[in-house]
Amino acid sequence: MLATLKEVLEIANQRGTAIPHFNIDNIAGIEAVMEAADTENYPVILSIGQGAINAGNLWYLADAVQRAANDSKVPVVLHLDHGVSYEQTVVCLRAGFTSVMYDGSHHPFEENVRESLAVIRSAHAVGVSVECELGAIGGVEDGMSHDHLNLVDVGEVERFCAQVNCDALAIGIGNAHGLYKGTPHFDFDRLTACRKLDTPPLVLHGGSGTPDEMLRKAIELGIRKINVATELRMAYMEGLEASVGQRDFYKMCKQAKDNITAVARQKIRLFQGL
Ligand code: 13P
Repeated sequence: MLATLKEVLEIANQRGTAIPHFNIDNIAGIEAVMEAADTENYPVILSIGQGAINAGNLWYLADAVQRAANDSKVPVVLHLDHGVSYEQTVVCLRAGFTSVMYDGSHHPFEENVRESLAVIRSAHAVGVSVECELGAIGGVEDGMSHDHLNLVDVGEVERFCAQVNCDALAIGIGNAHGLYKGTPHFDFDRLTACRKLDTPPLVLHGGSGTPDEMLRKAIELGIRKINVATELRMAYMEGLEASVGQRDFYKMCKQAKDNITAVARQKIRLFQGL
């Protein structure tokens, strides 16, 4: 069933777990993640990011996610990842999204507040949740590596949340998109400091390549949504590569899809403390 981000984050809050956010880029990704979510009987966020949108796939992926959600008993959120403008979030409201992220973290603080409020006003009017971001999260979303260290300013979190009634807030504690060079270092003291404030549920981007115990600790300290993209894409590509010699199109597609399901299942179990 379709659900909003606010609804699934309430479930996570009650259980002290995190909801997985998986970026999906094609129908195989949707089917693979839904197989994992149905098997584990756990809510899931299917997210359409800027890569998929730039490839021209916003509308058909949105339709396909709604169909998959209607066929499932688990709550499924149709989410926009890193929305770049007010206008883009409005397109998503029209396309049936149940959650949109507006990422104003690259803009000056006051502009981020102003634009976030505009998005929230429109989205909340039609019952759609909104995620905002503070402290730009580095890395290359579809790439492999980066050195960027990103730490959110705790004072800014307090000032932002006093003004902006978003349903979730992404913060930087040393996390980044893509695979890390070496082991990432998360500033858990900063996360604890943010948690002491009056904030909506906190979100960790850049989940790929992070050791399981670090993700477990982040959840223990209050992270309620974790984004994973690169690991799914790599699993898909490795599945295609592994079976390319067979020259059997459907076997290749199945292997790639099964690989995504395996990664998604592992994350779903990890995020609920299993
Ligand atoms: P990864 O690609 O590092 O998993 O990050 C995904 C993400 O945060 C999407 O918003």
